[in-house]
Amino acid sequence: MERLINESLFLKIDAGVAKRSNATDSKSVTLVVSQVRILSPAFFKMDLPITREEAINVLKSMPQLDSDMNHYLESEAIMRKLAKKFNTDEEYWGMLGLLHDIDWTFTKNNWKEHGIKAKEMLKQIGFDEEFIENIQSHTYGYEEIPIFKERKRDSKIQHALAAAETITGIIHAYALMRGKKVSDMDAKGLKKKFLDKRFAANCNRDIIREIELTELTLDEFFELSIEAIKEIKEQVGLE
Ligand SMILES: [Fe+2]
Repeated sequence: MERLINESLFLKIDAGVAKRSNATDSKSVTLVVSQVRILSPAFFKMDLPITREEAINVLKSMPQLDSDMNHYLESEAIMRKLAKKFNTDEEYWGMLGLLHDIDWTFTKNNWKEHGIKAKEMLKQIGFDEEFIENIQSHTYGYEEIPIFKERKRDSKIQHALAAAETITGIIHAYALMRGKKVSDMDAKGLKKKFLDKRFAANCNRDIIREIELTELTLDEFFELSIEAIKEIKEQVGLE
């Protein structure tokens, strides 16, 4: 039951169960449906065309700076933690974090293509429109990207992705300032850095504050994000 399912696969499973048990009448099918629905919402997982390992291979197949790869892994770790907190699909949320800058190698010197090139790349891999829109949403509001300049994020997952990928910058910079140490970093210290706008000045505080449009407070988000990065510290060059 750990396999990925989406609404359509869910229906296929129902039909399969009904067929195997010869339970083709609607009463029996309803019983199967109600038995499945008592499971946690996290059980209803979105379909993804590639695994995490394959997504990492896609990223590694392009020239990447270590700092960029660290940023993808940190964004993923925070998104996974958020998904767990919200009792939703960790694989899907994690994949958004991991691939949100999939086109960065090609767009870092040409920002106006950021998110647009990503659409082509993600489509080619087989990601659906919704996934692609969620990825593109982290660039909404950027002056440099005319077609996204006026767009607004409008869902919990979109606010979470934007806040998560942005806070990685402050946490990583703060850890480097502390001699790469994240293991004893706390939310109070991070909050001070957050409030000091000259520190990691390119990390947009307003975007991080979008986390408050989900059900988390800023302080809870600081704590959760630090915890997420502590768990992968060796992978991102921290201690
Ligand atoms: Fe990013």
